[in-house]
Amino acid sequence: MIRFFACGLAAFLSVVASAGFARADIHALDFGKTKNGEDVKIYEITNENGMKVRVMTRGATLVGLEAPDRNRRISDVVFGFDNVQGYESKDNGYFGATVGRYANRIAKGKFTLDGKEYQLATNDGPNHLHGGDGRSFDKVVWKARRFENPGECGVKFTYTSPDGEEGYPGTLEASVTYTLTDKNALRLEYSAKTDKPTIINLTNHAYFNLAGAGSPTINDHTLRIFADKYTPVDATLIPTGEIAPVEGTPLDFRKTTAIGQRVDQLTATSAKGYDHNFVLNPKKRGEELTKAAELVDPASGRKLTVYTDQPGIQFYGGNFLNGVKGKNGQTYAYRSACCLETQVFPDSPNHQGQEGWPNCVLRPGESYKHTCVYAFSVKEKETKRAADKKSAKEKKS
Ligand code: BGC
Repeated sequence: MIRFFACGLAAFLSVVASAGFARADIHALDFGKTKNGEDVKIYEITNENGMKVRVMTRGATLVGLEAPDRNRRISDVVFGFDNVQGYESKDNGYFGATVGRYANRIAKGKFTLDGKEYQLATNDGPNHLHGGDGRSFDKVVWKARRFENPGECGVKFTYTSPDGEEGYPGTLEASVTYTLTDKNALRLEYSAKTDKPTIINLTNHAYFNLAGAGSPTINDHTLRIFADKYTPVDATLIPTGEIAPVEGTPLDFRKTTAIGQRVDQLTATSAKGYDHNFVLNPKKRGEELTKAAELVDPASGRKLTVYTDQPGIQFYGGNFLNGVKGKNGQTYAYRSACCLETQVFPDSPNHQGQEGWPNCVLRPGESYKHTCVYAFSVKEKETKRAADKKSAKEKKS
């Protein structure tokens, strides 16, 4: 009887939560210690629709994101681990982390700034990847401060990286703020200041599977990327410098396409599938952020729309995942999630001043700013009539 009552109450509370009566809330939990004995905390943020985001101080990392499907069923749609040791393991794949100081690759770990050559760690074959391997931003423990504003709440993480850390010049005061809004959007705002000229490219490395993390594939997810061009790469995934049209390649996501439809055409390439930087179409006049991508799981209806002020987005399709064990007993299989990393282009430090390439240099007195919004919504099931109408229209065009 008691059990029956408890189940009934739980069901009632879950209906109340999904009906939009939950109270927005944020609280901190202990998550254990790093191997160096530093305390790690998780902040759990809930909005008034019952959507939940968990972020942790190690790596200013997104650990969990629970979003509703078209039937208001909640699932955690990002990869993660149950404890700090998981995140410290060699198979951590940068799950959910804030990546820096320079996300993505720098050829041979070398760049020249104001006539001086710098050598960074080469931790990805001959190249530098995601800020190095010692104290890159995904591995350090950030300070955290929670906040609540009308209609949204979140956590601001700060970290001061000393001059020369991981070989990068300048003391860098960096921050990343995660804000969950009552409109089911997670906004990430990065900022940084330096005391010497340096390079910078921060991003987030969340792995999304909108059917729920641990589901076997993303081949059936559909994707649209608002980019006419991309940056082709060499055998070590370093851009050749060319900016090429996506037209006629499997990278043409200007129309919504299932990820699995053409991915095998890329299996034998150096990227082993999707692992490319797309050059986003320019912002329209007056727009602060541009729509960069739309990812949909047609079965559950969950839809993620990515907005940003950055010039590029790396679409990485999980080609290097190999069955690593994640949180709640989940297994993360080959191509079972994708990252949509807003950024400047890979290896930009070696293309400064080249036409079409973005600035990645930060000087004293300047502020680095980057906004990325992961907005969640649902796509209703298409009726047969609507689907037929759409395909007839597509055939015509
Ligand atoms: C890169 C992949 C890399 C992965 C590491 C992505 O951002 O594009 O090439 O293997 O990060 O987790």
